[in-house]
Amino acid sequence: MISETPNEKPRFKLHPVAILNSQRLRRSLMDTYDQKSFYKYVIGIILLILSIGSLFYTDKLVQELEEREEREVQLYAEGLRYVVNSPLDENFNVIYQVIEDAVNFYQIPAIYVDENNIPNPNKNIKFPVKISRQERERIIQERLEEMKLEHPPIPVEIGKGRSGKIYYSNSFLLTQLRYYPFLQLSVMLLIGYLAYLAFSSARKAEQNRVWVGLAKETAHQLGTPLSSLMAWVEYFRSDPSIDPSIAEEIEKDVIRLEMITTRFSNIGSVPTLRQEPLAVIVANFISYLERRVSSKVKFEVHNQLAEEQTALLNKNLFEWVIENICKNAVDAMGGIGEIHVTLQAPPRAKEIWIDIADTGKGMTKAQASKIFNPGFSTKKRGWGLGLTLAKRIIENYHAGKLFVKNSEVGKGTTFRIILNADIIEES
Ligand SMILES: Nc1ncnc2c1ncn2[C@@H]1O[C@H](COP(=O)(O)OP(=O)(O)OP(=O)(O)O)[C@@H](O)[C@H]1O
Ligand SMILES: [Mg+2]
Repeated sequence: MISETPNEKPRFKLHPVAILNSQRLRRSLMDTYDQKSFYKYVIGIILLILSIGSLFYTDKLVQELEEREEREVQLYAEGLRYVVNSPLDENFNVIYQVIEDAVNFYQIPAIYVDENNIPNPNKNIKFPVKISRQERERIIQERLEEMKLEHPPIPVEIGKGRSGKIYYSNSFLLTQLRYYPFLQLSVMLLIGYLAYLAFSSARKAEQNRVWVGLAKETAHQLGTPLSSLMAWVEYFRSDPSIDPSIAEEIEKDVIRLEMITTRFSNIGSVPTLRQEPLAVIVANFISYLERRVSSKVKFEVHNQLAEEQTALLNKNLFEWVIENICKNAVDAMGGIGEIHVTLQAPPRAKEIWIDIADTGKGMTKAQASKIFNPGFSTKKRGWGLGLTLAKRIIENYHAGKLFVKNSEVGKGTTFRIILNADIIEES
């Protein structure tokens, strides 16, 4: 209630049941949010465990394969030694073939370097089809340098004081397996992200339907008692024994209730936007508000817009937003302080900024990140809905933005509304 400040007597008090209901609704809305972030954490932890498990498992496979490949290269070294030392007999070719096949099976690239550092036989090194001898030697040299960095060489003793070394690198399979977990992780993250987007947009659409249904039903239900109340007002008026000022006061409240009902029934329907003189609307509405709040709250409008500047908006909804932000500001200042409303159009941007700054108690960063969640309120009697609705009105219906520009505990808060200066009129 605007008039509820410590220094003023409240105009009327909320019924205790209404307070209880507001607290229940708030709690259930906050529970829904807490539950959602709980599920987010659970899914996140499961993904993390899966990813770590997959990384460990693949790492184990990589190690095993690496050891096996090293053994194969040792076998190749052994084969070379055997070939050099063995007397040529009929089994020679068969044995050599077995050794060759073993190395070829894993496709391990390997180069034998003799005691004079001259690279000789090489295995599984790919060359272009037509290639000169020099070009071939250059490629072998390049691969050799790479291999030197990858694994320590395997010595080959070929007897008679001669020795050589085999340099090798990982097979294609092993290299692929090394990168596989990262690929797998990226795909998992991408799928997770896409699923989250799909899920959250479906949830938002569902939430919107619930909001609209709730608002329209409330408006509908309020219609009957309101017209009955109006009839009672007429009845009181016609009775000369009743003080006419009572009927007048009740009528004012009934009219206000009717206005609120109309606003609720308008939620969900596409509002008509018109080009309106923004500065005039804000100035008039602020002076209307000023009369209704504590006289200890000083309002000031700083208009830096050109006189002819208009904005496309729905006047009723826009005023509702200003009212909600100012009501919160008055609450945050405990009914004493200043509210500065600044209107400006940044150069070259097709935008209008409306800053509403108060000298209230301010918010912490953690608080500020939650204030647009339905049900978040630090007030005993708050529903935690004012800012949620305000944000929807500005962002969904006016294609604008509403956010906390800055807030400092003990100093005050500034909200910024951004409206488009030239959005296309909806039909
Ligand atoms: N100007 C402000 N300064 C400090 N805190 C603010 C300000 N505006 C909003 N808040 C915080 O944000 C919360 C949510 O505001 P919101 O208007 O959505 O709900 P409410 O005012 O608590 O209840 P209601 O639904 O009746 O508006 C407030 O309870 C308050 O803690
Ligand atoms: Mg509020």
